[in-house]
Amino acid sequence: MRKKVAIIGAGHVGECTAMYLAEKNIADIVLVDIIEDMPKGKGLDLLQTGPVRNYDVNVVGSNDFADMKGADLVVQTAGLPRKPGMTREDLITSNAKVVEDCAKEVKKHCPEAFYLIVTNPLDIMTYHAQKITGFPHNKVFGQAGILDSTRFRAFVAMELGVSMNDIQAMVLGGHGDTMVPLPNYTTVAGIPIPELIPEDRIKAISDRTRDGGGEIVKLLKTGSAYYAPAAAVAEMVDAVLSDRKRLFPCSAYCAGEYGIKDIYIGVPIILGAGGVERIIELKLNKEDLGSLQKSAATYKDWLKVLGY
Ligand code: 2OP
Repeated sequence: MRKKVAIIGAGHVGECTAMYLAEKNIADIVLVDIIEDMPKGKGLDLLQTGPVRNYDVNVVGSNDFADMKGADLVVQTAGLPRKPGMTREDLITSNAKVVEDCAKEVKKHCPEAFYLIVTNPLDIMTYHAQKITGFPHNKVFGQAGILDSTRFRAFVAMELGVSMNDIQAMVLGGHGDTMVPLPNYTTVAGIPIPELIPEDRIKAISDRTRDGGGEIVKLLKTGSAYYAPAAAVAEMVDAVLSDRKRLFPCSAYCAGEYGIKDIYIGVPIILGAGGVERIIELKLNKEDLGSLQKSAATYKDWLKVLGY
């Protein structure tokens, strides 16, 4: 039987996720949103795109959470985006309520599903969603590491004037100001970037990566990025449903890895049919490990806002 993915939130990230995912042809898609009829219109539009874009999965929109029934994986995109000048953490209380309401529906209608969180501040919302659903930690995980890494990859390519396709990058930590780009684990066709780019430029690129979402929020003025976030989600969904065992940085539950406990934070994982199948523990140098642990400590503090 064909797999099924439910996407909660038919805003820009939700609709683009549905589009990228439909083009992968791996699962039927239901796009759920509470705004009357809107997701139905977007679902129909995406379905009618299939013959031209060569996919034949079913895409529907719905105002009824019950239509998520049978989903193998649920993507949580619903929630407020940032406005210029806001940090992702400014969204904690408002989005926690949205995530709580949605997570209860997920638990009710698809208790066996994987639950992929995109709503910001996403490391905190992922922790919250796991608590509300009570799903196993390997089945609840957050996006972001792929998004932050793809931004880093693009900036490295721009800096060197080389193809983005040759660049691999690793960005760990929380999806916010404390994220940790790792230049030593970032390569152009296997060559670590410290051999190719001067230190001050690597620092500038790392800073731009850290502020990558904010840079776009400032330009858009009415919302946040969606193409790259949605593309990152589609890669993650494919990794799980097609059991690809991809190595991605994602927000995963740490139970002592990297000296971090009881928190969701960006770490390298193997993502496959078992969800988060394992966390890869890199031998980070003291400075990078310190930055990752500092990032985790910041998020631990933020969780207190939600009473954890
Ligand atoms: C970003 O970094 C929306 O958090 C997302 O663009």
